[in-house]
Amino acid sequence: MSPAQEIARRRTFAIISHPDAGKTTLTEKFLLYGNAIHLAGTVTARKNQRATASDWMELEKQRGISISSTVLQFDYSGFAVNLLDTPGHKDFSEDTYRVLTAVDAALMVIDAAKGVEAQTRKLFEVCRRRGIPIFTFMNKCDRPTRNALELLDELESVLGLQSSPVVWPLGNGPSFRGVFDRRTRQVHLFERVPGGAFQAPVEVASLSDPIVREKLDDYTYEQVKEQLEMLDGAGHPFNLAAVRAGQQTPVYFGSAINNFGIQLLLDGFLNDSVPPAPRRSAKPFNGTAQNGAVTPPSQRDNSAAGVAAPGPGSTSPAAVALNSQPSTLNSQIVPVTYPKFSAFVFKIQANMDPKHRDRIAFVRICSGKFERDMVVNHPRSGKSMRLSSSHKLFGQERETVDEAWPGDVIGLVGHSEFHIGDTLTEDKSIEYDEIPRFPPEVFTFISNPNPSDAKKFRAGLDQLLQEGVVQSLNLRAGMTTSTLLAAVGQLQFEVVQFRLESEYGAASRLDPSPWTIMKWMTPANPEEKLGDPAHFVVASGVAFGTDKLDQPVALFPTEWTMRYFLEKNPSVKLHDLPLEQ
Ligand code: G4P
Repeated sequence: MSPAQEIARRRTFAIISHPDAGKTTLTEKFLLYGNAIHLAGTVTARKNQRATASDWMELEKQRGISISSTVLQFDYSGFAVNLLDTPGHKDFSEDTYRVLTAVDAALMVIDAAKGVEAQTRKLFEVCRRRGIPIFTFMNKCDRPTRNALELLDELESVLGLQSSPVVWPLGNGPSFRGVFDRRTRQVHLFERVPGGAFQAPVEVASLSDPIVREKLDDYTYEQVKEQLEMLDGAGHPFNLAAVRAGQQTPVYFGSAINNFGIQLLLDGFLNDSVPPAPRRSAKPFNGTAQNGAVTPPSQRDNSAAGVAAPGPGSTSPAAVALNSQPSTLNSQIVPVTYPKFSAFVFKIQANMDPKHRDRIAFVRICSGKFERDMVVNHPRSGKSMRLSSSHKLFGQERETVDEAWPGDVIGLVGHSEFHIGDTLTEDKSIEYDEIPRFPPEVFTFISNPNPSDAKKFRAGLDQLLQEGVVQSLNLRAGMTTSTLLAAVGQLQFEVVQFRLESEYGAASRLDPSPWTIMKWMTPANPEEKLGDPAHFVVASGVAFGTDKLDQPVALFPTEWTMRYFLEKNPSVKLHDLPLEQ
């Protein structure tokens, strides 16, 4: 296979959802379809607190949740899939957001009885900012759900996302009988078996087929016919370009636990989604693109490659995306077909293997071919280094990787100098933009309860801050002696405590802080300087400080105190993130 073909068959994505919507179950089903079946059962076992594919750390096992993100790699229908798992716990962390910077598409799982929930909304926003394609799976259709049309409306009204159903549910809850595939105009029937168990669909027929007619009661049949006519007439037609631009979401209905609708989803998703997208270098980049004709799996000879038939919408898939990449000199866009290796670190995980106490940097390859033992530049340190300990990961299981392609995620072990956001490259002119930061939402003080351990505590905390596990803030002089930490999720603080103890032998104490909102401050008039915070008019409880780059920040206990601040200090502008982004 040529490099271009290797790239075109890659799909790198994450599943986003609110806890309990069925992400773990769906992940397991994908693995079953991807023949990673011997490992699949271990994914859901995490809830039973057994050692699982995703549970790396002792802390995860103790709590029976997945804190760190797992990379699950498998082949399906000619596609090489990189599924980046994200923490499912409600106290999710910045990790989840960062993983989303390394994917090319997202699959949004929604509990069809509940609709769009809070965490889905947050994760969706991060994906939307990146403009990546988002596919939707309405799960748990075997149970009573909300009206399907209402669910579509909600995608539009709550997320502002245009939707186009690819399949449509026949019936609801007890009367749910299957789905209608709007592309093939075929019904996939779902069999209920006694005892409340289900089995995967066995029959495919047209809507007017007597078999279908027999299964659906008159009311459901008429309702489905009416809804389908309405969707054909007034719904948004499927628009592949809009899907790939993240402006329209294809919607699938099914039931993960019953394997129902999974294959339709997986085939549709892999065909209509995008191959690895080119990345932007922070500086102009010197290379030229290699414009090879690229054939995605869905376009190749199916019999030879054993790949899925293309859906009707996939007439211009990956080849277009790859070939339309700019090939001009000095562009800042690094084409995925550029032959020189480049990648960025999007996550660092320490202590994945307690026996080895090592540290692993997760790297997303952006261009060129990775080969084990290759020597690359590390622009931040200015050093060149050999990448010898490279792994493909499947939860706790590691397998040495000898080669990998753009879109792939690999783990590099034992490089303590790597930070999140670092570039690794054969071409020194490439430097990827640092991984974005996200507005912190929780704050806590951390201190060292044992004066004799001061050195260990400081060294450990400094290392964890450098890794980007959490960020620290300096409050204005005299306010406190302990360090104020800020994070996206509470879980990040627990990870800090756990790692301080297990890796550095340092106990720590967390004390609650009164703040719930943090903003970066700049002068409203860029010509002027920011005033001295001592002269700002504030309600009680508001504090000021600086971030690690010395940028001024304000901390508010409530929304009201923030609004009051804005009203009384028109010379100050507040920002969700520091300005350099
Ligand atoms: P998450 O990773 O998004 O948090 O969700 P997870 O897959 O763990 O699923 C949450 C619960 O929803 C699980 O039940 C799971 O079995 C159930 N579930 C997932 N898909 C479907 C579906 O299609 N239909 C129905 N009816 N239920 C579904 P649980 O009781 O919390 O766990 P378990 O004891 O079943 O493992």
